[in-house]
Amino acid sequence: IVGGESALPGAWPWQVSLHVQNVHVCGGSIITPEWIVTAAHCVEKPLNNPWHWTAFAGILRQSFMFYGAGYQVEKVISHPNYDSKTKNNDIALMKLQKPLTFNDLVKPVCLPNPGMMLQPEQLCWISGWGATEEKGKTSEVLNAAKVLLIETQRCNSRYVYDNLITPAMICAGFLQGNVDSCQGDAGGPLVTSKNNIWWLIGDTSWGSGCAKAYRPGVYGNVMVFTDWIYRQMRADGEFVEHHHHHHHH
Ligand code: ARG
Repeated sequence: IVGGESALPGAWPWQVSLHVQNVHVCGGSIITPEWIVTAAHCVEKPLNNPWHWTAFAGILRQSFMFYGAGYQVEKVISHPNYDSKTKNNDIALMKLQKPLTFNDLVKPVCLPNPGMMLQPEQLCWISGWGATEEKGKTSEVLNAAKVLLIETQRCNSRYVYDNLITPAMICAGFLQGNVDSCQGDAGGPLVTSKNNIWWLIGDTSWGSGCAKAYRPGVYGNVMVFTDWIYRQMRADGEFVEHHHHHHHH
């Protein structure tokens, strides 16, 4: 996160750090005790294999994340229409081997309802352990920053992203630059508070550099994926149920 500030304990309780071989690689958001939303580009081959991944929840400092404090990932589901070149449909799900216990520091964020109304420049927040400057290194502490949604028509204009923004993406930040997500924040949340509830509006996906003028952050448009997410979780539940039945016979 560029231009943000260090997070207070419990401020972003859905944020997880996703590690590969004890190194922070991507962010994610808790949506149920067992399921994490992240970006599909985080889990490209060979990282689509769940055994690579450990999730850390409720811990603000990277140096406090050690093997025993983590949750092993049991399953990785990448969006079937994810395009690694254009980053279209850049969303994935991770299922944990053991459910998280929710408390003041570990809580889920709500999935938005398709068609949920947002202001054209809705106030949102981004968070993560990503670089605090372009080409910088991963942050030791969790950072967060306030950003505004940027209408797709504006974000697609010739002086911004010149039609690279698909309906499955959403832009947020400031056209003057200075505040943005950055490398290492990918997969993490873009959230907004509405009616006193926090909603997951986006998952950090891409940008040209970090915090540059006319190059805002681009996020997966979670509203477009809500149905797909529920379908994956339901199908997994039915699979587990089916197997239980076999054990009884
Ligand atoms: N792709 C980056 C990552 O893997 C996220 C970059 C977000 N960039 C930005 N300028 N908002 O961590």
